[in-house]
Amino acid sequence: MKLLGATRNEGKQAEIRRVLEPAGIEVIFPDQAGLWESPSEDALELADTFEGNARRKSQHFARLSGLPAVADDSGLEVFALGGAPGVRSRRWAGATGSSQAVDAANNAELLRRLLGAPEARRRARYRCVLVYLPETDAVPRVFEGVAPGRILEAPRGDHGFGYDPLFLSDELGRTFGEATSAEKDAVSHRGQALRALVDALRSPVP
Ligand code: IMP
Repeated sequence: MKLLGATRNEGKQAEIRRVLEPAGIEVIFPDQAGLWESPSEDALELADTFEGNARRKSQHFARLSGLPAVADDSGLEVFALGGAPGVRSRRWAGATGSSQAVDAANNAELLRRLLGAPEARRRARYRCVLVYLPETDAVPRVFEGVAPGRILEAPRGDHGFGYDPLFLSDELGRTFGEATSAEKDAVSHRGQALRALVDALRSPVP
């Protein structure tokens, strides 16, 4: 089967491929489908929940591509910051430009907000909500994954993307920036949600 992965984030694209392709699911992304980025796409992410954003992205790209679409909306929730950056994780520091520049600005903002914060105030989790839309008018199917951890005082490792070098995974005892791809996928929010999607695609609709 062939899916449209409704994301332009290269870090997410790599993780989606790593789980779906070994399961026999071919996935292409908007550029490969000839769907070039348009300024109106930012408006797809104005919902106040991960699920709301993922629903809008899946509908948009299923309609444009004519393919079944799977959209990921995800982010980091820091408990002492009231769940921020949450749905605003990508745009948190307001930076624009390359994904590396945006990630660097967001990580600097996270360190600044938690400067001097004791261990107990550094608890966090990543959340990922995947919405799968078999066709434009179908009922969406929703899958979720959560990865618990805490935010370090300095980055460790340069794998992954986004906040990964600052996020110490409870399960791995290492940051997602230090983890190999396979280690991250085994415990990550996105790995969990993608495996749930694979299971659902293999079983008949309930
Ligand atoms: P979205 O594209 O609007 O869903 O925003 C996702 C943002 O959340 C990314 O740009 C990162 O800042 C953050 N994020 C989500 N998942 C991860 C991850 O696995 N590692 C690092 N950062 C992540």
